[in-house]
Amino acid sequence: MTKVIINSQETSLKVAPETPVLWALRDALGLTGTKYGCGIAQCGACTVHLNGQAIRSCVTPISAADGKKLTTIEGLQTDPIGKLVQETWIEHDVAQCGYCQSGQVMSATALLKSKKNPSDKEIADAMSGNICRCGTYQRIRAAIKAAAKKLA
Ligand code: FES
Ligand code: FES
Repeated sequence: MTKVIINSQETSLKVAPETPVLWALRDALGLTGTKYGCGIAQCGACTVHLNGQAIRSCVTPISAADGKKLTTIEGLQTDPIGKLVQETWIEHDVAQCGYCQSGQVMSATALLKSKKNPSDKEIADAMSGNICRCGTYQRIRAAIKAAAKKLA
């Protein structure tokens, strides 16, 4: 049994300890906002926060989250910075097919939580592991900058 605080709720999970966080979220809990892309930590589609840090849930075993806090895209609704990022995403009409976007939003939110006014390089570095096959990168950058401006 793994006990994790998921989106502020204490949750007991009866899955094998080596189960990737991604599948514990999607299959055991029905939290399908977190997406499966590559499964090998290369695309960022599966990004969630573990104790506030952006992690790749496809390669992180649920045992690594025991006693810790996981936040998914569903949990950002009650997070002021997460909400702000989602608002600027809508304002900038970022999503195309949308598949990569929950991971993008999670990475952007983790960045802005650690740094309210990131430089272009810091944005590029923080977002470099999130791939978008639709090529929405310019709008992603614009939305992050707009969110940073609102935080200033
Ligand atoms: S699915 Fe996890 S990084 Fe691609
Ligand atoms: S919006 Fe389609 S993959 Fe990013």
